[in-house]
Amino acid sequence: MKLLLAVVKRLHRPAVCCSPRRALSSCAGSGGLLAAEGTDTALVVGSSQELLHRIGSQVEVRTGFISEEEEEAFLRELELGLKKKRYQFDHWDDAIHGYRETERVRWGAECEEVLTRVRSIAFAEGSPLLGPVHVLDLDKTGYIKPHIDSVKVNGQHLQQLNSNNASCIFSLLLSDHLLIFQFCGTTIAGLSLLSDSIMRLVKEDASSEWLDMLLPRRSLYILRDQARYDFTHEILKDEESVFNGQKVPRQRRIAVICRNLPG
Ligand code: OGA
Ligand code: MN
Repeated sequence: MKLLLAVVKRLHRPAVCCSPRRALSSCAGSGGLLAAEGTDTALVVGSSQELLHRIGSQVEVRTGFISEEEEEAFLRELELGLKKKRYQFDHWDDAIHGYRETERVRWGAECEEVLTRVRSIAFAEGSPLLGPVHVLDLDKTGYIKPHIDSVKVNGQHLQQLNSNNASCIFSLLLSDHLLIFQFCGTTIAGLSLLSDSIMRLVKEDASSEWLDMLLPRRSLYILRDQARYDFTHEILKDEESVFNGQKVPRQRRIAVICRNLPG
C-alpha cells in the first residue's frame, strides 16, 4: 500500500501543464466579454463571440442543479472522512493548492439519486463510466492551477497528470487493472458544493482564447470534447476570483466529479 501511495504521489507532482503566461492578467480588460448562447447564458463569458460559438456547446453550467437538502446530504456523507485528512499545501508545483480529496463508489440513496441525474445528463447512454466519484475539497485559500486531465498514462503524458489522474490510477491499481493505461474520457461533470467559484478555460496553444465559467454553489458544470482536451481548466483563487468584472468570493469548495472512460 505504501508503494502504491508513493506511485500516486509521484504521478501527482508533475501534474501542472500550466504556464505563467496564462495568468489572470491575460484575460482581464480584454474587452471581449461576451455571454455564451445556450443554457445559462450569463454564466459563461469568453474572449470572443467566435470562440463562444465554437466551444460554447461543449461547456455547460446548470444553476440550482441540487437543492440545499441534497447539498446537505453530500456533506453528511463526506464531511467525516474529509475531516480526517489534512489540506495539502506542500508542493509549489502541484496542480492543486490547498486541497484534500477522496473518492467514493457507494453512496446513500439521496446522493446516488443526484449522481444518477448527473450521469444521465452528462454522459451518452452506454458510455463507460469511471466507477469511483472523485471528491475534491478546496480550502478557502485553495485553488486549481491550469491543467489538462490526461487521457493516457505513458511516458509522454505523464507531465499532464494531475490529482484526478492519480486517483484514477489509484483505483485501477487497487482493482488489479494495472495494465489498463487509459483513463478519463471525453467528459467531466462536477457539482460545486459550499461556494461559488470561477472555472477558467484557456486554449492550450493560443492563450488569448479563453472562457470563464461562473460555477454557483449547488450548480453542475460539464466540460466536453475540445473544451476538455484542448483547453486547460483551473479554479481561480479567491484574490483572482472576478467574473465579468464582479468579485466572486471564494469559500471552502467541495467538487463532486463524475467522469467517463475513453472509448
Ligand atoms: C481536477 C479538477 C475541478 C473541480 O481535480 O482535476 O479540475 O471542479 N477539478 O474541482
Ligand atoms: Mn482537472
